[in-house]
Amino acid sequence: RADGETQVDFPLFVNLFLSVCGYFITVRLIPRVGEVFLQKTNLWGVDMNKKNGRKIPEALGVVSGFVFLFIMFLFIPIPFTKYISDNSNFPHHELVELLAALLSICWVVILGFVDDVCDLKWRHKLLLTTVVSLPLLMVYYVNCNATLIIIPKPLRPWLGLSVELSLFYYMYMAMLAVFCTNAINILAGINGLEVGQSLVIAVSIIIFNWIELSGNLWKAHQFSLYLMIPYVTTSVALFQYNWYPSRVFVGDTFCYFSGMTFAVVGIIGHFSKTLLLFFIPQIINFLYSIPQLFHFVACPRHRLPKFNPIREKLDPSVTTFHKSELNIIGRLIMGLFRGMKIVRWNEDNDGVVTCNNLTLINFILIMIGPTEEHKLTKILLYIQAACSLLAFFIRYPLASIFYDV
Ligand code: UD1
Ligand code: MG
Repeated sequence: RADGETQVDFPLFVNLFLSVCGYFITVRLIPRVGEVFLQKTNLWGVDMNKKNGRKIPEALGVVSGFVFLFIMFLFIPIPFTKYISDNSNFPHHELVELLAALLSICWVVILGFVDDVCDLKWRHKLLLTTVVSLPLLMVYYVNCNATLIIIPKPLRPWLGLSVELSLFYYMYMAMLAVFCTNAINILAGINGLEVGQSLVIAVSIIIFNWIELSGNLWKAHQFSLYLMIPYVTTSVALFQYNWYPSRVFVGDTFCYFSGMTFAVVGIIGHFSKTLLLFFIPQIINFLYSIPQLFHFVACPRHRLPKFNPIREKLDPSVTTFHKSELNIIGRLIMGLFRGMKIVRWNEDNDGVVTCNNLTLINFILIMIGPTEEHKLTKILLYIQAACSLLAFFIRYPLASIFYDV
């Protein structure tokens, strides 16, 4: 490293210190804010997988999000302290990256909170999550504009060594931001799952950044660590309250905040393709959900598993519709899913169909049978962790087969 070790490690050290403080602040704030939400606002929901039907404060992700932003705002000058006495070489591009990252995250925390309060419509959510990627794309364009991708060895006879994707690469990054912000929110509905999966992804990113700190692009990975470390500590605090049995719900605020933070570090840290590898369960859940998300198949307001109060276990939840309601695309996709035996499909003589809601959570329940809620969350988190291991395998040993690394 050209800068010398001590210069580099000082900001990371301060970041770690602030993050630990952030953990304790979040732990103290969550019960207090939760109480306020219960007493003075409508921000609460009923835990549908419990017998008691107690009111649980909702959208507490806003606390971890705000503490995260607070820490990051305090941190803004820290990486630049060595330029205070002489700012002739000030790295303006690095400051711009940090500011654009925080601008985007700030925006989604607000958006998520508005969604929790007002229940935004899907088309509004999509529009609002698409515009937020613009500052990031601008920074990417101004600072590096690298849109060349290297073709894997087996495809080189046809496509050549590399392809310049230009505008398409920007479209890919914008779509990545929209995907990340929504993907966690639709793999949700059982205690601890939203924060749990986000923590597994975040820790995977940190390990990846840590490995890459010794590489050529170490600056980008250091930037990512600055955001991921406070993200993890503030989310761990939230996890303690959201784990089974949940004392608070995290809300869409947290799901958007997490997804956007991951997208930001992936885009500005130049590892947007590796990032997607850490989202394998979310990608599977999204693909499986497509018929319901695009309304080829009836989609109820909630798709979370159904609580069986007698057995005290969760069963897959179902959607019911008449077979004639399916259009041609719906019939084709569902025919494919039934052929692959990945749905539980019952049809009576009148053509009324009962089919499981198309989520990864329900699919696991079909595979393993009725399960207690906390066990189901653990299984899904183990799957997420296993997919991260697979991601590292694809990124390192396997990549050397396809690329000269
Ligand atoms: C998304 C899902 C929806 C799922 C919901 C659960 C899609 C298209 N939407 O909707 O299917 O049911 O998340 O989060 O896939 N809740 C629990 N236990 C939990 C977490 C949440 O019972 O562990 C319930 C509570 O009543 C809570 C509500 O879910 O109030 C929150 O749902 P919300 O985040 O508003 O749903 P969406 O994100 O719109
Ligand atoms: Mg939600």
